[in-house]
Amino acid sequence: MAAWVVFSLCAASLSLALTQTSFQVPLQPEQIHQNDSDYHQFKWPIRKVAVIGAGVSGLVAYRELVDAGLDVKIFERDEVPGGVWHYSDETQGQPPIPNVDPQVADFVPSLPPPNAPLPHVVYHNDRNDNTGVTSAERWRDHRAPHGVWASLTSNVPAPLMKFNRHEWPPGSPWNIPHLNLQRYLRSVYSFYGINANDRSPHISYNTRVELVEKRHDSFGNEHGWKLTVKKLERLSPSSCKEKWWTEDFDAVVVATGTFNGPNMPNIPGLIEWHRRYPESILHSREYRRPEMFANHSVLIVGAGPSATGIAADLNPLVKRNVLSWRQSERSNTPVVFLNLLPQGIEVVVGIHQFHPENRTIELSDGTFLSDIDEIILSTGYRYTFPFLPQYHNSSIKGNEEGPQDQPQPIVTDGTHFRSLWRDLFYIDEPTLAFINQNLNVVTFTWGENFAIALAKVWTGTARLPSRQTMWKEYRDWVASQGGYGKWLLFIKWQKQEEIVSFFSSWLNTAAYQFGGKQATPSDPNERELLNVWGRAFFANSNPVKLPSTERKQQFGGHQQQVDSLEYAHSLLAYFTSGY
Ligand SMILES: Cc1cc2nc3c(=O)[nH]c(=O)nc-3n(C[C@H](O)[C@H](O)[C@H](O)COP(=O)(O)OP(=O)(O)OC[C@H]3O[C@@H](n4cnc5c(N)ncnc54)[C@H](O)[C@@H]3O)c2cc1C
Ligand SMILES: NC(=O)c1ccc[n+]([C@@H]2O[C@H](COP(=O)([O-])OP(=O)(O)OC[C@H]3O[C@@H](n4cnc5c(N)ncnc54)[C@H](OP(=O)(O)O)[C@@H]3O)[C@@H](O)[C@H]2O)c1
Ligand SMILES: *[C@@H]1O[C@H](CO)[C@@H](O)[C@H](O)[C@H]1NC(C)=O
Ligand SMILES: *[C@@H]1O[C@H](CO)[C@@H](O)[C@H](O)[C@H]1NC(C)=O
Ligand SMILES: *[C@@H]1O[C@H](CO)[C@@H](O)[C@H](O)[C@H]1NC(C)=O
Ligand SMILES: *[C@@H]1O[C@H](CO)[C@@H](O)[C@H](O)[C@H]1NC(C)=O
Repeated sequence: MAAWVVFSLCAASLSLALTQTSFQVPLQPEQIHQNDSDYHQFKWPIRKVAVIGAGVSGLVAYRELVDAGLDVKIFERDEVPGGVWHYSDETQGQPPIPNVDPQVADFVPSLPPPNAPLPHVVYHNDRNDNTGVTSAERWRDHRAPHGVWASLTSNVPAPLMKFNRHEWPPGSPWNIPHLNLQRYLRSVYSFYGINANDRSPHISYNTRVELVEKRHDSFGNEHGWKLTVKKLERLSPSSCKEKWWTEDFDAVVVATGTFNGPNMPNIPGLIEWHRRYPESILHSREYRRPEMFANHSVLIVGAGPSATGIAADLNPLVKRNVLSWRQSERSNTPVVFLNLLPQGIEVVVGIHQFHPENRTIELSDGTFLSDIDEIILSTGYRYTFPFLPQYHNSSIKGNEEGPQDQPQPIVTDGTHFRSLWRDLFYIDEPTLAFINQNLNVVTFTWGENFAIALAKVWTGTARLPSRQTMWKEYRDWVASQGGYGKWLLFIKWQKQEEIVSFFSSWLNTAAYQFGGKQATPSDPNERELLNVWGRAFFANSNPVKLPSTERKQQFGGHQQQVDSLEYAHSLLAYFTSGY
């Protein structure tokens, strides 16, 4: 099959097939950095590490860093671990329309007054608070409920959606209900003594990181990082306490997840429509249950797992169920999920313009939708790190870089993050790292070798190449991914294979040279598991009709209506070819 074909299943499914040991990608010797005179030397010793976020990725990072003997502290804004998998009926409410700057797409940092002695404490009581913000709203914004809905189950099978050394009990369903994932995560956090009821000094719950900035020693030299954090304690349903303080660290791991900043696309007329019918627009992050849409006509925008999953969930109850698929030239989202839609859903082409004056929606094929009650923008998320404002620069467009005499930005337009070696270390200061924010990978296992790499590099049992070499390798990588955009973080299966091989070779060679841990070997059963899973997951004997398109569709060529079992098989044949 042609090499341009982009694999875009779920955040994962078949991608795990790549973490096998049964095949090898030859590595160039220089790729594993054995040149003794060309490696990065850290400006300060690394002993104390902050991890931001207590989801899947925070745990993986914590475990490896502690194992390597580092002093680790996690900060988690929510009251329990689990991240995305801490479901709540409560939602965050409508994101701003139009999109705000990516720097504040998740939250606007809340800082203590300048020069206030720390810790700084403020009490709020709804009875005498004149800000118009209730304590319940303060808490909701502080912890930020995620976009998981009540009926959601995993789209990755249980045997692959687990931490190394923590198996699901035999007989567990492969389609994991989100509540079970939440319980699983809590149990593993308990295993490591860092659940919310463990009172561990190594984790601070209810604590949001507001600012991460460089620290300087008494000679003015850079010497680590200072975090400004805010803890929000609920004292009663109508009162709360905010407390700010700072803490110093030598290194920082950002494990805040990928789906925090909703993307509200600036489709023509949307702003005016929103002004006129403010309640009619939602983002998929706000969706929980179908009942509130009973007998309504709903338009879902997007074709990813959220759009298709919500459409299917709504289907039994709504009057009209329309899904708008924009058929973009360069989609890296899993349009293959369209094949799973049940009968009753009308898939239409992209939106040309909203017309609030006559409440019609004009599609790109010239037709109109005229009876839509709600629009659910299932248009994905943007990369955003509000606590790192110094590394955001939204005036940099497309493939431009930042001013060369300045540290390079990490977020520009929010479609991707950048300036990281191997999507892990910030090249201009590799004591700042980001874990597990690639698309199309299985977070649970993908993070493992990345976490080992962080632990080894920061404790001196593996080396990073020099800054110059990292920049060169990084630029080659960006070029090979096709430049800057959402696709930069999307790792096609062939590349996953290369990346896993790279990490194994690098970390194992380093372990041989300098001691310490080796890379985690991958599970040889994964490919067959995925085969079985994929066949079951993608089987749909009666798929809906998709609008035709001139553009060659992934896997389908010009042929849109393919038998879906056949389709599933062709997908699998593609993924398993070459083994
Ligand atoms: C709707 C939905 C369905 C999904 N389904 C699947 C699936 O079926 N299979 C699969 O493998 N993956 C799925 N995913 C991907 C999911 O993101 C991963 O499974 C996993 O949860 C990622 O873990 P994480 O720790 O990287 O991020 P998260 O789970 O997002 O955890 C990040 C943590 O960081 C905390 N945090 C963020 N900012 C701050 C701050 N400033 N200060 C302190 N704490 C902070 C958050 O509160 C959160 O607890 C899904 C994602 C979504 C949105
Ligand atoms: N377990 C589950 O069942 C489940 C359910 C939901 C989500 N998830 C996971 O959650 C993550 C996020 O998924 P998601 O579906 O929310 O986001 P997503 O995968 O990024 O999909 C966003 C969709 O919106 C479209 N879109 C973006 N901008 C648009 C615009 N301006 N106009 C029209 N369409 C636009 C995209 O089209 P293009 O492709 O053209 O950009 C894409 O179809 C994924 O990892 C997914 O696997 C899992
Ligand atoms: C090692 O790195 C140094 C400094 O970058 C370079 O001059 C030298 O040629 C390299 N040696 C090898 C064998 O690549
Ligand atoms: C939806 O409409 C049908 C037919 O008019 C009606 O029987 C049903 O009760 C309605 N459901 C809701 C939840 O309003
Ligand atoms: C709605 O209004 C727009 C703009 O005025 C117009 O172009 C469009 O034809 C109208 N749609 C219908 C169905 O009348
Ligand atoms: C942001 O990028 C623009 C364009 O390159 C540049 O002019 C500006 O100085 C940058 N801002 C910061 C704070 O680096």
